[in-house]
Amino acid sequence: MTASVAIIDRDRLSALIDRERAAYRAGFPASRQAFAAAGTHLLGGVPMTWMRMWPGGFPLYCATAAGARLTDIDGHDFIDFCLGDTGAMAGHSPAAVQAAVSRRYGDLGGATTMLPTQDAAWVAGELTRRFGVVRWSFTLSATDANRWAIRLARQLTGRPKIAVFSYCYHGSVDESFIVASREGPLPRPGDVGPPVDPRETTRVVEFNDLEALQQELAYGDVAAVLMEPALTNIGIVLPAAGYLEAVRAVTTQYGTLLINDETHTFSAGPGGCTAAMGLQPDLVTIGKSIAGGIPAGAFGLTEELAERILGDHDADIEDTGGIGGTLAGNALSLAAMRATLGEVLTDEAFAGMIEVASRYTAGVQGVLDSRGLPWHIAQLGARAEYRFCPQMPLNGGQSAAAADPHLDEYMHLYTINRGILMTPFHNMALMCPATTEADADAHTAAFAAAADELLG
Ligand SMILES: Cc1ncc(COP(=O)(O)O)c(C=O)c1O
Repeated sequence: MTASVAIIDRDRLSALIDRERAAYRAGFPASRQAFAAAGTHLLGGVPMTWMRMWPGGFPLYCATAAGARLTDIDGHDFIDFCLGDTGAMAGHSPAAVQAAVSRRYGDLGGATTMLPTQDAAWVAGELTRRFGVVRWSFTLSATDANRWAIRLARQLTGRPKIAVFSYCYHGSVDESFIVASREGPLPRPGDVGPPVDPRETTRVVEFNDLEALQQELAYGDVAAVLMEPALTNIGIVLPAAGYLEAVRAVTTQYGTLLINDETHTFSAGPGGCTAAMGLQPDLVTIGKSIAGGIPAGAFGLTEELAERILGDHDADIEDTGGIGGTLAGNALSLAAMRATLGEVLTDEAFAGMIEVASRYTAGVQGVLDSRGLPWHIAQLGARAEYRFCPQMPLNGGQSAAAADPHLDEYMHLYTINRGILMTPFHNMALMCPATTEADADAHTAAFAAAADELLG
């Protein structure tokens, strides 16, 4: 039976946050001291500035990690649902990748030589089997895969702009830092040193709004729509029935290429949303998890586009034309990709991961229903995320409006203090092949306890 809608007492929430902050400070002294001692030579005190965004004022310092588990330098064990914000969707240091990396780097030697290794063709064949597009090239990150896909799309179409969805995230891609608003498109607040105003390079629309997309494409200047088939970086926003098919139809109608960024939506299954939802993009980009945590990314395109770009004598795709990186496609990344795709993130593994994610989702949903909490949880394959609004938002703008930094902080600290790690900045949980049903149930228990304390 569903309880009546619960009201959250903000004073109680503040008191609980104070309590959890104090528990965090007291419970993780080694991490606190390591952060304090990090000195002045790290920008922001951390190896990468976003690592400061963990709640509690200082990040946990990692000691060891294996599968779905992680230990910190205070000796606590965690069930890790963050999984490096998807970078570790294969689990931490899976044995097959360990072996491949140590063979390539240690036994055979040569991480980066400017020469191809035979792993590349195998990986490209496997990505083709999974994602449908048939010609692949490699990068060191998903960001670079997107940057290069955009360049190729502009070159192929001779058009200057791209289109993205409001509150999308595709990595640090200049063109994508733009949001839709009632007053029209706006640069995304906080954009650091943009080369030009993104309104010069980009058209932006809300997700699930076909008419808006059609209007923007009708200008005839959009080379490509860069999209996640489901938004995953502003909560999870799933496509409405028929929406993605309609996006394909209008992009084709207006001569605009369609790029599916599967970096996160890979959680939907072995071939991401592209395979799970039967999509037909012109290009696919991916990164993060495909090499088991070793830096790697990839972009793929159709046969027809590949032939055209290879035959375009004005496009220097080999030297200084803007596509490439010295370490891209290196032997170590490719050995790791081959092991990850061949032995870890297999079709069978996805089936198990999705089953555990369904259990996790049902557990959270049960707590929401029984307590009358006006929140919702959405699942995309092996990934699930709850958000503080009763129904799944239709688009990024609606989802951004549902953000609640205080509730976020409370839920994050509450779970960290009880041995469960969620993704910072939002409430995403990801299952890897090593995540168990017991792990999902442990989260449900902690989530229920957090909810009960919140509701008094
Ligand atoms: C959908 C999507 N694409 C691309 C990226 C960029 O990945 P990276 O930072 O590893 O380059 C991200 C990062 O969160 C992402 O969520």
